[in-house]
Amino acid sequence: MSEDTPVSVTMQKDGDVAVIIVNNPPVNALSWHVRQGLADHFAAALADDGVKAIVLRCDGTTFIAGADISEFGKAPRGPDFNAVLNTIEAASKPVVAAIHGTALGGGLETALVCHYRVAVPSAKLGVPEVKLGLLPGAGGTQRLPRVVGVEAAATMTSLGEPLPAAKAKELGLVDALAGEDSLAADAIAFARAKIADGPRPTRERAVFGDVAVIEQLKTANAKRWRGFEAPYANLACVEAATRLPFEEGLAFERQEFMKLMMGSQSAAQRHIFFAERQAAKIDGLPKDIKLRDVKHVGIIGAGTMGGGIMMNFLQKGFRCTIVETQQDALDRGLGVVRKNYDASAAKGRFKPEQVDAMMGLITPSLSLDALADCDLIIEAVYEDMAVKKQIFGKLDQIAKPGAILASNTSYLDVNEIAASTSRPGDVLGMHFFSPANVMKLLEVVRGDKTADDVLATAMAIGKKIGKVAVVAGVCHGFIGNRMLAPRQIEAQKLLLEGATPQQVDKVHTDFGMPMGPFQMSDLAGVDIGWHRDPNRIESIRDALCAEGRWGQKKQAGFYDYDEKRTPTPSARVEEIIAEFRKKAGIEKREITDQEIIERTLYPMVNEGALILAEGKAQRASDIDVVWIYGYGWPIYRGGPMFWAGIEGTDKIAAALESHGFEVAPLLKEKAAAKAGF
Ligand code: 3HC
Repeated sequence: MSEDTPVSVTMQKDGDVAVIIVNNPPVNALSWHVRQGLADHFAAALADDGVKAIVLRCDGTTFIAGADISEFGKAPRGPDFNAVLNTIEAASKPVVAAIHGTALGGGLETALVCHYRVAVPSAKLGVPEVKLGLLPGAGGTQRLPRVVGVEAAATMTSLGEPLPAAKAKELGLVDALAGEDSLAADAIAFARAKIADGPRPTRERAVFGDVAVIEQLKTANAKRWRGFEAPYANLACVEAATRLPFEEGLAFERQEFMKLMMGSQSAAQRHIFFAERQAAKIDGLPKDIKLRDVKHVGIIGAGTMGGGIMMNFLQKGFRCTIVETQQDALDRGLGVVRKNYDASAAKGRFKPEQVDAMMGLITPSLSLDALADCDLIIEAVYEDMAVKKQIFGKLDQIAKPGAILASNTSYLDVNEIAASTSRPGDVLGMHFFSPANVMKLLEVVRGDKTADDVLATAMAIGKKIGKVAVVAGVCHGFIGNRMLAPRQIEAQKLLLEGATPQQVDKVHTDFGMPMGPFQMSDLAGVDIGWHRDPNRIESIRDALCAEGRWGQKKQAGFYDYDEKRTPTPSARVEEIIAEFRKKAGIEKREITDQEIIERTLYPMVNEGALILAEGKAQRASDIDVVWIYGYGWPIYRGGPMFWAGIEGTDKIAAALESHGFEVAPLLKEKAAAKAGF
């Protein structure tokens, strides 16, 4: 053993069994020093005649959770991972992986070169690389089909979902289940029992199973994988395993891995992996700040938002009191929640008794007084400042001391709302995205006077109910909707100049967005925020609203819809646009797709730069997280601010200038340095 052998890997002996232990918190990632330690200790164990079998296990909460993602893109250091794996697989003594927590990615690939695998029942095993825009590039795509067969290997690699240990055992990925508290001892006993059998190198096993599953997976996931490269690369590698000798398969896998690794999709997806975790951190707040205790949640408003918000809490076992002004609205709201849960139960997501238990957590009421005992109260009534101020004024009288008072407003001034109470420190915004029980984003809006522990508690609650929470400052529309505004304005202008709604929308869906600006308007309701005066027609939207073209709900908006809500381009909308164009004296011209990108997506980057400079977002990556989880920005493009770096901030600034936009100073700065955000 050299003096430089790192302490993140150690070795102990239990009679004739050597136990090699990885200890690299927090997730035992395969950092360079772990690879070095594995190489050194395996060499030592193999050279020791007293050692007849080897166990590889980990300290801490988990088995190896993968390659160290933070090392990607940096100068290589330490031994090559594949070389270390080849040494383990070629060992002349049986090697047993002892798995707890998660064996993921490179972690599972390490377990796959061990000759046997023992796991505790709570362990999970998988290859989630596809979620980082990658594939298991250390033999995973070649060894898995030799252990679990083509069907399971293709599914595991292309979808990236880990398997529970019991399922892994069924598939032969795990040889034996160990006791939850006796893994170390059980693995040693298992290894000792295998001394007589000797090693079982995975590469020498035959690939089995039906390759037809690969095409079936492609068909079944065509919509989900639209625009993504990695799922297809994973499947190509598994397919290669069925026809190439092992070494050639490895070479093919390497080539595909490098392509993905060098490409922008994986860079974007890795960026989001860290961005999502970073978003949870609040600058300037101690990590161990004492949180307020939240057990009982109050919701004001049983409409679509209120009901959806409540569902998040019910699913996590919170008691909820929901308040409406009218009995029929309350009944309707609860009916919708029940219907949604019943539909989920029919799909097997919940058991019927779970639905009953969740519904049993609800106390419906027609009086705000019923919220007196709540620890967190979320107001989700319509967007009217006067109404919100009145509600918060009343809550100030009713809520117990220390209760957190949150508004689900999507645009309004949280400071003004807070000022209608005598306790602005307890007030903040919790902006959910529709449908609130599905969308992962939560903007937590920090008012000028919001107390630190209130902010930290709201962020923690967000995580608890399965949201990705992002801190936003007070400004019109916060992060997401503020950036949406210039996009929508410009999209309308493009119509006047000659584009059609379907052309603009197609540019956005081809880019990877789930829908374009006009499809989104139709879905949300063209009439949202409309002044409601049919005689006041100042925009295309006013004209649509005046004619009752309020979107999908009226089967007419920017598109015409049939009963199944299938959209078709509308001749009437074209007429309305033509009338406006004539009135405005604008000559119709050909609009290129590139111009649509420059005038609808680039302004979002510009607005993002303003938000960042004003401190309304803590960091550029938070803005990316908002757009990925709140609006379905394609994750393989990493969010608008990351994308700006790929597209070129200089190119964006120049194009914006050429279209007459005022370029944000921060964007100008980045453009001058040819830097990303
Ligand atoms: N490399 C580097 N850092 C990692 C990491 C990894 N593979 N996995 C997690 N971390 C870091 C996180 O960034 C986080 O850091 P922070 O505290 O500074 O924010 C910390 O470890 C804890 O992570 P989580 O907050 O995610 O902890 P959880 O307990 O919620 O989840 C986990 C643990 C399930 C292991 C989850 O972190 C995870 O899914 N990690 C990624 C697993 C993965 O994708 N592995 C494949 C890597 S690629 C690969 O192996 C390529 C190979 O085929 C060649």
